[in-house]
Amino acid sequence: MRLDSARLRRLFATAAILFVGLALVACDDPQSTVDPKSDHTETIQSVYMVVFWLAMVVFVGVLGATLVLSLWFRERPGRVAKQFHGDTRLEVLWTLIPVVILVAVLVPTVRAITDLEADGDELPSNALRVEAIGHQWWFEFRYPDLGIVTANEMHVPVDTVVLITLKSDDVIHSFGVPQLSGRVDMIPGRTNAVQFTPNEARADAYLGQCVEFCGTSHANMRFRVFVDEQSTFEAWIANESADAVSTESLSVLAQQGATLFSNPLLGSGVTPCIGCHTVQGSLAMGEIGPNLTHVGGRSTLFAGIRDGFGGSENPDAVQHELERWISNPDDIKPGVTKRPNGGMPAWGEVLSREQINAIAAYLRELK
Ligand code: CUA
Repeated sequence: MRLDSARLRRLFATAAILFVGLALVACDDPQSTVDPKSDHTETIQSVYMVVFWLAMVVFVGVLGATLVLSLWFRERPGRVAKQFHGDTRLEVLWTLIPVVILVAVLVPTVRAITDLEADGDELPSNALRVEAIGHQWWFEFRYPDLGIVTANEMHVPVDTVVLITLKSDDVIHSFGVPQLSGRVDMIPGRTNAVQFTPNEARADAYLGQCVEFCGTSHANMRFRVFVDEQSTFEAWIANESADAVSTESLSVLAQQGATLFSNPLLGSGVTPCIGCHTVQGSLAMGEIGPNLTHVGGRSTLFAGIRDGFGGSENPDAVQHELERWISNPDDIKPGVTKRPNGGMPAWGEVLSREQINAIAAYLRELK
């Protein structure tokens, strides 16, 4: 196949379109690591740019030299290459160049590592403290100064220092929100910390997930961080710290669900929902599973793997997913019934469809 100029132009155009397409896809990625939205990730980005441009210089330099030299010294009739062994100046030169490059990378890296360390006691007075606890396979978020406990969805105010202490309830997990923070492990028996100041409030959540293999449903262990304007954040706090809706204001179906939630099989030996879950303001005070006080107001279900309730989502679809979950959570998140630290029963084996329907309705109304 000959490459005439028309063909070459077409080839070039295709490559250009592909490249622009890829670049656009990269810009739109909600988990993009090169689109920082906090001081923390901007620091990481600055190191990345140093490495990127140095690598670019090496790439262009080496390939360029290879190209130029192979043309310059190409075989010509009658030409014989000069034979020699070793050249001290050259050896020193190409040992020194990588040393200089590595030092140029080392200095900003070390500086960034110190910059990224959480300040602990030296925090500004308006800083927000959050405790994140990894569980197989969900995230618990506690706000000790605000008396809030929630799961899988965290809210923080924009332009405010956020200090998150990281713990684990069982195995090693890892906390990562590419646009807001680097990855930090959550290790049993140890407290790590991560600190960042988000700089862009937006309606869409920043996506995070567990980034350390932690068992069967590791890939189903996700979470969201909402960066709110101050007023939105305060409204969220007000709602989260309130008790759950009172039984009287629930629909009839949901009231039946609330009763079943407390004790579906009295004396059967199966732990009722309230043995593991908390619904603030009710008898439910369990601490093994996620706090469900305002679960009906969350935007996702089951640690970020299904669309949730808040706002415009289809209530029938949410009801259906909840019924599936209560009937057999392993259908949605494999391994949940056999969780070492307390599995969730597959209620489909002991409750009727109508009963499960009522419990799902109750959860949906816990806004
Ligand atoms: Cu938790 Cu992976």
